[in-house]
Amino acid sequence: MTNSHQTDLIARLPKAELHLHIEGSFEPELMMALAARNKIDLPFKTLEDAKAAYNFSNLQEFLDLYYQGMQVLRTEEDFFDLTLAYLQRAKADNVRHVEMFYDPQAHTERGVPFGVVTDGILAAIRKGEQELGISSYLIMSFLRHLSEEDGFDLLVESERWHDKFVGVGLDSSEVGHPPLKFERLYQRCAEIGFKLCMHAGEEGPPSYVREALLDIGVDRIDHGNRCMEDPELVSIIRDMQVPLTNCPLSNLSLCVIDDLKKSPVKAQLEQGLLVTVNSDDPAYFGGYIGRNYEKTAEALDLSNDQLIQLARNSFTGSFLPEAAIKAHLASIDESIA
Ligand code: ADE
Ligand code: ZN
Repeated sequence: MTNSHQTDLIARLPKAELHLHIEGSFEPELMMALAARNKIDLPFKTLEDAKAAYNFSNLQEFLDLYYQGMQVLRTEEDFFDLTLAYLQRAKADNVRHVEMFYDPQAHTERGVPFGVVTDGILAAIRKGEQELGISSYLIMSFLRHLSEEDGFDLLVESERWHDKFVGVGLDSSEVGHPPLKFERLYQRCAEIGFKLCMHAGEEGPPSYVREALLDIGVDRIDHGNRCMEDPELVSIIRDMQVPLTNCPLSNLSLCVIDDLKKSPVKAQLEQGLLVTVNSDDPAYFGGYIGRNYEKTAEALDLSNDQLIQLARNSFTGSFLPEAAIKAHLASIDESIA
């Protein structure tokens, strides 16, 4: 058990969340409410039925349910409600800054216009800033099971909103869809000035992390677990101080690890990597960011200093300007003074 002193410390620490798919924060309660509002049938009737289905043996089993669940999101108001609900939960966990992914192609391919999705999310982000005091950056994610050409189409379709995105990401089914499949697309995104993120090494081999880092030149690696199988790569990641956004409860739910005690977070901290703890798809994986910190601390017997380091890394690894990072780090110091 995390002792109550550590639970308290985790709650008190200002944190940033750097790996969160907004569609993965879709709680079954809200899903049922929006299904009723939009007159859509769901494959489950009760919360218990929904939660019983959240039992995955790999990434693809989760993705199938994740894409199915988001089908009830139709209107700008739906995307607003979804995003605001997440920000309220983040507030309860003392999150001060969020860099959230969303998957426009998963909505446009079922006929929901890009602007409906994006404007709904952006309106909630503004409200979160004004009323909850949480800053949020939006990261437009490409689905890697689709083609690079599809990615270019999204880049064109989204042009009017480019100044609203801090960067781009790459998610969905990893194995068989290596980073280099998207080399030209990422080259173009770099020219536009986007920060570059990619999921790599969640299920895919260490070579995918190498490609993302050394061939594509990403600014941040999402997950990155399997880099640990390649000691030379670990040294490179340490020397470059490229942030890794680890998601412990996600890793456990998707059988990336079979026990939270096997989470790489502690080893990565001890080896000087810029690792962060995040929730990924909290509605599906049993907890928001606070619970991810708590469960990881408990399983790995993290020290208070390591918890503080994780909170510090969450800001250092963010895309915030230097001055804002400094201010957040100072607020961490104050919170533990
Ligand atoms: N999309 C949402 N969550 C994801 C994850 N953990 N890996 C890849 N794609 C995702
Ligand atoms: Zn993810």
